[in-house]
Amino acid sequence: MTLYLKNKLWGKNFPYVSKPKVIGYYSVDSDRQLHFDSSQLKYYCPPTNDKINFDLNDGIHTVHRKPASANDEKIDHILQWIKQKIPPLSDNKWLSADFVCLRGLLTKIMKTPYDEKEGWIICAVKFKGTIYLCAFDTDADKYEKSNRTMRDLTFMSWGFKFEQYLVSDAPGKEPNTNKPVDEAAEFCCVFETRLVNSRILYGAEMDGIKCDELLDDPLPLKELKFFELKTSRIVERPQQFISMKRFKFLKWWCQSFLVGIEDISCGFRNDKGIVCKVENYQVQNLARISSEYWSAANAMNFCDAFLQHVSKIVTRNYDECVYKFERKPFGDIIMTELPPSPEYSFLPQWYTQPDKS
Ligand code: A3P
Ligand code: MG
Ligand code: MG
Repeated sequence: MTLYLKNKLWGKNFPYVSKPKVIGYYSVDSDRQLHFDSSQLKYYCPPTNDKINFDLNDGIHTVHRKPASANDEKIDHILQWIKQKIPPLSDNKWLSADFVCLRGLLTKIMKTPYDEKEGWIICAVKFKGTIYLCAFDTDADKYEKSNRTMRDLTFMSWGFKFEQYLVSDAPGKEPNTNKPVDEAAEFCCVFETRLVNSRILYGAEMDGIKCDELLDDPLPLKELKFFELKTSRIVERPQQFISMKRFKFLKWWCQSFLVGIEDISCGFRNDKGIVCKVENYQVQNLARISSEYWSAANAMNFCDAFLQHVSKIVTRNYDECVYKFERKPFGDIIMTELPPSPEYSFLPQWYTQPDKS
């Protein structure tokens, strides 16, 4: 029951993927409380000044960071959304989806053939005919998180500060860069897609939308045009551009493709956190300019192969067994069947037995 990764080719032709469809949304406030509304929705606001000079350190001491406890939320938000919004199909089947997860997990899988150094743990459980997937920290992730220096935290905050320079609460409104950056709040959308035979329902945090009018709930789901913001160090040497294509563009492509994003704005910063150039990238071009290093078709075919592998293995119910899939750095994907445990079970009782909660 091991999925071997020695073979790096998972298919040359792009597999069938339906256009990701937005089926809902929710907001997470600065206290990580969930709201079934668009209160955290942001509008993309392109830079107006020709001379860009964004200081990403501005106000860094007042930043509101995402609490460490957010890690324990697992996939609770998407479960809460499902519980609230999707009536069960029958007593034994709740959803038409084969898989439920978050977008970050799909990105992790898609990057796997190209990111040999990155280990991961993904647990899978079956409930009412659907497989739920959740990523768990590896020992290396735990070590990295508990040993973050002020410098690491600053680097992380720069990405959020950049977002603040380019989004606002209303179309045409100047971004307010004087207020503390709230790294804990999010606007998320729920998507549905089909990859070959796997119907997948997933949540994803969205940076902003491009829209000229102020939207109110309920949002016009079919019309939302999402936008992604990124930062990157200015490229000075050829090796830096190679690394950007190999790793960053792969991640950006995976994240964006999964939610139908067509454009990304990247702020290029120096080592002091000053952005003096913003460049727009078309997502479809990212794969083309990085074709020496990775293939979008291969990443998607691998994702399909992994999901098929999981669906063959995951047959017993969540209350009997948790299936743990682990990819150690440079290793294959090893599966272990575990009894339900506080460490790796992740479907809360309020989800599986709503009447008892
Ligand atoms: P950058 O991507 O510009 O570095 P996202 O682009 O996915 O919306 O994430 C917004 C910002 O959150 C990132 O900006 C980065 O600053 C921070 N961030 C996201 N994921 C991270 C991770 N795994 N480790 C560190 N920082 C992260
Ligand atoms: Mg984001
Ligand atoms: Mg972003």
